[in-house]
Amino acid sequence: MALPNDNTREILAAQAHIWNHTFSYINSMSLKCAIQLGIPDIIHSHGRAMTLSDLVNALPINNNVKTLDYIFRLMRILIHGGFFNKIKVNDKEEGYLLTPASCLLLKDEPLSQVAFVQTELDQSFMDPWHSLIKWIRSDHDNSSTPFAISHGKPLFEYDETQPNINRQFNEIMASDSRLVISVLIKNCKGVFEGLKSLVDVGGGIGIVGKVLADAFREMNCIVFDLPHVIEGCEGSKNLCYVGGDMFKFIPSANAILLKWVLHDWSDEECIKILKKCKKAIPSKEKGGKVIIIDMVLMDRKIEKGDGKSYETQLFFDMLMMVHVSGKERNQQDWAKLFCSAGFSDYNIIPMLGLRSIIEVFP
Ligand SMILES: C[S@@+](CC[C@H](N)C(=O)[O-])C[C@H]1O[C@@H](n2cnc3c(N)ncnc32)[C@H](O)[C@@H]1O
Repeated sequence: MALPNDNTREILAAQAHIWNHTFSYINSMSLKCAIQLGIPDIIHSHGRAMTLSDLVNALPINNNVKTLDYIFRLMRILIHGGFFNKIKVNDKEEGYLLTPASCLLLKDEPLSQVAFVQTELDQSFMDPWHSLIKWIRSDHDNSSTPFAISHGKPLFEYDETQPNINRQFNEIMASDSRLVISVLIKNCKGVFEGLKSLVDVGGGIGIVGKVLADAFREMNCIVFDLPHVIEGCEGSKNLCYVGGDMFKFIPSANAILLKWVLHDWSDEECIKILKKCKKAIPSKEKGGKVIIIDMVLMDRKIEKGDGKSYETQLFFDMLMMVHVSGKERNQQDWAKLFCSAGFSDYNIIPMLGLRSIIEVFP
């Protein structure tokens, strides 16, 4: 395409846009480095605004003029990214403070996102992006993914062979579950009220199951996941763990919960899972339902004002393409899936930020 004449400003803006997009990874890599250095925890332990020299003194690195400069520049980009604030501590110096985003990057915070950042930016999770072009060009079957090209096996099988990644992955799911379940119990308790039993399919190590079992004593909860995931997990009076493959069998209950499960799978696979769910629950009249927690992709034209949220949803969609054979879906996509799996009705409750609760009725 020929470049437009006399459009210098437009061309320079286009070049800057390309630079900015190309270097998006610098934001993530800087964040990863700050976490590896333990910066959020160090500032938190300091208990007040922390000067650059105090911060560098507290870091597990050599303290010299050069490192002072490196950490100053690392902190500057992370302040720009909203991870730290800077305030005056005296006439000469400024000090760093945490923001709500870096408070979620403290190691011992129950809702900590540290495992999420570490895992998603781990070499093994980044490598598949270099296989994206090979995967798109190849004549692959539906189950192939760039992740499988990089690692020789799909994500969930790879996880099984990597205890460290498996542990971190379970941690990510657990901290997300703590956040989601606290919002659910506070704002959407009605979704679970009156249910006598519930199976949390793909329920990981049972964080959601445990909170639900505690909050609804009359409800029997089953956490259902692959055998290696639930290995060693202990149940309670109204909570038990069942290991198995959701494509083969799902235990019966009043309701099935699928939190962050369906976006991992293709439409064909989701229809299979949903059909198994339908078999496991009673009719709508008898209170049967499937409760899905996943994204409902925004309509770009409608949601123009919130470009960042839309972009984050698109990031997840690409992630689902590269790591697993899944995708994020808009309302029409969800409706098609429910109809194909034989469900009659659904209700979307947009109460979870970028994600929604979707009740699906047989
Ligand atoms: C993205 S995680 C979601 C975990 C949990 N629901 C949460 O949100 O914290 C997907 C879960 O599906 C489980 N899973 C994958 N394949 C499965 C299968 N065939 N049968 C049962 N669970 C499966 C994984 O082990 C994992 O725990």
